[in-house]
Amino acid sequence: MDVLGIDIGGSGIKGAIVNTKTGEFVSERFRIDTPQPAKPKAIAETIKVFVHEFKWKGNIGCGFPSVVQNGIIKTAANIDKSFIGVNANELFSNATKCTVKVFNDADAAGFAELTFSDVKSIKGLTIFLTIGTGIGSAFFKDGILIPNTELGHIYMKNGLVGEKYCSDAIRKQNDLDWKTWSTRFDEYLIYLENLFYPDLFIIGGGASKKIDKFQPYLTIRTPIQPSKLLNNAGIIGAALLAK
Ligand code: BGC
Repeated sequence: MDVLGIDIGGSGIKGAIVNTKTGEFVSERFRIDTPQPAKPKAIAETIKVFVHEFKWKGNIGCGFPSVVQNGIIKTAANIDKSFIGVNANELFSNATKCTVKVFNDADAAGFAELTFSDVKSIKGLTIFLTIGTGIGSAFFKDGILIPNTELGHIYMKNGLVGEKYCSDAIRKQNDLDWKTWSTRFDEYLIYLENLFYPDLFIIGGGASKKIDKFQPYLTIRTPIQPSKLLNNAGIIGAALLAK
């Protein structure tokens, strides 16, 4: 079954039609800058543009950069605050006349990773992190996804939350060289490993393609690897969850 997968991020909205059996794209990938301010109506209009672009009539899965419970947006760190309390399933379904289901973006990306990589057979705890505009997280315990963990919002010793200290956006905004950023990210990962004792970290999101730049500076004891699906995991996972 083909599903339109859309990954709504703080900076860009990306989508493609996904074959949910194979995880492959059966269309080109399409991207639009996230409208600013990222208010519900503006985002719903953008989703409509994807539907027109792909002449789509089937199901749609959206990854969204917030805690999402049964389609309801609960937090809004990198999206307009007026989203809090909105039933995004209803809003986007009404706007597009398609059945739309919305999930946390990191959970969606993590679900794709679990489905299409050998991570599903790993025993123990894997922490999957997406490093982009914010930091998203998903836990896999013995191959099962545990949703709505918000590790990007853990407070660091300097009083900043993790994503304000070492997201990819913070690296770019502050023009941090790789060594400086990696030292921050290392500190963040050490904090997580001392809290959760994971067996593996997987890095997704924009930073997954750049792991060679920062891995040499990490001093963590936990093994770390990039996402197999790299930056497309969010689109694929949203489609899988919505099928
Ligand atoms: C949000 C998470 C999201 C992450 C990545 C964070 O600011 O709180 O829900 O997964 O950004 O987009």
